[in-house]
Amino acid sequence: TELSLIRNFSIIAHIDHGKSTLADRLIQQTGGLTAREMTSQVLDNMEIEKERGITIKAQTVRLDYTAKDGITYQLNLMDTPGHVDFAYEVSRSLAACEGALLVVDAAQGVEAQTLANVYQSIEHDHEIVPVINKIDLPAAEVDKVKAEIEEIIGLPADNAVLTSAKSGIGIDEVLEAVVTRIPPPKGDRSAPLKAMLVDSWYDPYLGVVILIRVIDGVIKKGQEIQFMAAGTKHLVDRVGCMRPKLEILTEIAAGEVGIITAQIKEVAQTRVGDTITDAKRPAAEPLPGFKEVQPVVFCGLFPTDAADFEKLRESISKLRLNDASFSFETESSAALGFGFRCGFLGLLHLEIIQERLTREFDLDLITTAPSVVYKLELSRSKTDDARSMELHNPADMPDVNRIDEIQEPWIEATIYCPDEYLGSILKLCQDRRGVQKQLTYVGGRAQLVYELPLNEVVFDFYDRLKSISRGYASFDYHQIGHRAGDLVKMSILVNGDPVDALSMIVHRGTAEARGRGMCERLKDLIPRHLFKIPIQAAIGGKVIARETIAAMRKDVTAKCYGGDISRKKKLLEKQKKGKARMREYGNVSIPQEAFIAALRMG
Ligand code: GTP
Repeated sequence: TELSLIRNFSIIAHIDHGKSTLADRLIQQTGGLTAREMTSQVLDNMEIEKERGITIKAQTVRLDYTAKDGITYQLNLMDTPGHVDFAYEVSRSLAACEGALLVVDAAQGVEAQTLANVYQSIEHDHEIVPVINKIDLPAAEVDKVKAEIEEIIGLPADNAVLTSAKSGIGIDEVLEAVVTRIPPPKGDRSAPLKAMLVDSWYDPYLGVVILIRVIDGVIKKGQEIQFMAAGTKHLVDRVGCMRPKLEILTEIAAGEVGIITAQIKEVAQTRVGDTITDAKRPAAEPLPGFKEVQPVVFCGLFPTDAADFEKLRESISKLRLNDASFSFETESSAALGFGFRCGFLGLLHLEIIQERLTREFDLDLITTAPSVVYKLELSRSKTDDARSMELHNPADMPDVNRIDEIQEPWIEATIYCPDEYLGSILKLCQDRRGVQKQLTYVGGRAQLVYELPLNEVVFDFYDRLKSISRGYASFDYHQIGHRAGDLVKMSILVNGDPVDALSMIVHRGTAEARGRGMCERLKDLIPRHLFKIPIQAAIGGKVIARETIAAMRKDVTAKCYGGDISRKKKLLEKQKKGKARMREYGNVSIPQEAFIAALRMG
């Protein structure tokens, strides 16, 4: 297809503002699907994605649209994942487009979380078309939302498209706006092949499917291609596009988006952002922006029932087929038996994988405290002359006398928030050992740049930020390398025994507060036993905090004197829940939730 007839765009929207509904309408209107096939939303096809309202794996469709000018255009709608853990994937999807639809709910207005995506889109020089959706709602306030788009985001909103994706109003206008307002791609069909690897996934029938955006040249079946960063060569055996069903094509040329297969067995062999070129006539330079994604948060996953270990291995291997961004290796723990040490892009990524294992594979799991990767400088010992190591698991910490220095990963975080929440957000960053780099105002909102130790962010920073700003702060980060810190290993002892799954690396300055918080929370999380249970936090041999769980009385509700019924019910419920999934430590039972819940800071 000629460049002037192609439009590549994505949809930016806050959760629930109608991105999926609109995408489905665009597909329906251009004939990609019949009404019957429309019954379920097409683009978000994973159950968990639906429930959490996020898109994990990008999916993309090609639409043929005959515009009012009588010409048929090729529209490629790129779906983008919507969370900070997948920021790199988002940036690659955006790099494959020339424009974006910004969908805003007519009743809700602009929400802050969309801002980060809008700014990213602007950075990629996108033409942004505002779409005000849900105009059918009685609470719709179109003029107010237009004003917000202009004031908060700084985009002209006069010619915003008004839609009701639900009732099918304004869909043609959206398609027209894509054609007339978003520029066509640039590229050179006769130059050596240069295509960006935007995404890849495993399909049981096709093997690994690769989504590409061709920048220059042409890709065809039978062509030998080379992945420039990975350095591998493959033979293309299928070229096509999703409509959203697969359609086989003869070629994908400069400016176009499509999919290829090349007899690749594992998603891990493909890297998002890599440049695909012709093996015989390679491009001189790869495309800019490629990054190797590395897991940044590690934790142990153990089956509650030791007999499930093999089942867990199979399930993890299956998930890994489609997600090369997490890693795993076997691990054994004194208390938890055999399990896996897994690495993730961030906490949300961890939670998604954990939830899929529990739900799709019906596994009962124990998750240990998430940890970042520390670098240690060591002095030689009699038995080991390694001078440095990467520590993925606090339980593997070598003898403290050998440690010369511990370095922790730092990030640079950008936070956008309305002025009124600035004070509490500054305090949160300060409490987490943050170093303020910048404070500016963009379109009536504060833009805050902080350097923070990743360790202080992984547990609950994002949740805290959202709760203190009532959801109005947006958060985006990238890593900026390791720095030395005054870090120590803190152990948690339950009834005198250290529980390795709860040990963690902390900054000395915050160790005591952390230790106290952990003990207090564990005191609430571990049910009473027939005997008294001391809970201690210790650094080396020194106890820095302590709580005691009193011995159980025969009737836990007796002390409520029957007066407060709701409290009584709560207590009984708590007891019931506590019984559900427990782990025995010596003679103490610790409920599964305790392992992660104990780490959330108050
Ligand atoms: P996530 O996939 O969760 O990110 O949300 P989304 O932005 O894709 O929103 P989705 O399309 O799932 O729509 C969210 C809710 O809004 C659904 O219940 C839709 O039925 C509803 N909705 C979407 N468009 C409209 C509209 O034009 N009018 C009304 N009244 N409801 C709409």
